[in-house]
Amino acid sequence: IRNDYDEVSAWIAHYIKERIKQFQPSKDRPFVLGLPSGSSPISFFQRLAEFCKAGEMSFENVVTFNMDEYVGIPKTHKESYYTYMNTNLFKHLDIKPENINLLDGNACDLEAECRRYEAKMASLGGIELFVCGIGPDGHFAFNEPGSSLTSRTRVKTLAYETIVANSRFFGGDITKVPKVALTVGVATVMDAREVCVLITGAHKSVALAKCVEEGINHMWTVSAIQMHPKGLIVCDEDATMEL
Ligand code: GLP
Repeated sequence: IRNDYDEVSAWIAHYIKERIKQFQPSKDRPFVLGLPSGSSPISFFQRLAEFCKAGEMSFENVVTFNMDEYVGIPKTHKESYYTYMNTNLFKHLDIKPENINLLDGNACDLEAECRRYEAKMASLGGIELFVCGIGPDGHFAFNEPGSSLTSRTRVKTLAYETIVANSRFFGGDITKVPKVALTVGVATVMDAREVCVLITGAHKSVALAKCVEEGINHMWTVSAIQMHPKGLIVCDEDATMEL
């Protein structure tokens, strides 16, 4: 628990930097990092970019996988996670373009695209560290309430609450928010050797309480972290209100 969003972001950025350094990644043994989207990661992304610029760390031998992508908007749309990731993180890093993995929400065969993504992760030996954000309803990636805890990367219809929550990025107009997305599954994330969940703000306090003080429940999918041997939640004081 840290005081506020800034301290949470600083902590996570520092943690990622140290984990990558300790791992001593090389071309043949890259560090495989899972990344979230949404507004929560913006500040730790900025800090990672600053570390990189200052020569304190390098993404040269880091491979990334993002959690999710909308279906039905072009890659170049300002709210696609492709654009979001490039704008907020990748263009500021020394990461190689071929080391960036994103789901393609415009693939002709979406199910084949999900299989391709899982196979690519497996071919790299799995994810070393998956960093997640959550929605106020306890979803991570787009593993909406009711998602199977054994789910893998798949096509998912978004919950009404998520569409409403994300409409702020689409001019407040829920009709403009995609209704379908591709997302890594609960089990895909839980297969990572380490999972780190970022939870800030009073609006996520019920989700945090459900996640850590109640049972593992597919209606609050982030509660699956209770089963993880190396699961870490980094939250601010506001998010602990219901604990
Ligand atoms: C979306 C994303 C999630 C993210 C969530 C929370 O639904 N698919 O991966 O965790 O938003 O976003 P924010 O950080 O803006 O609250």
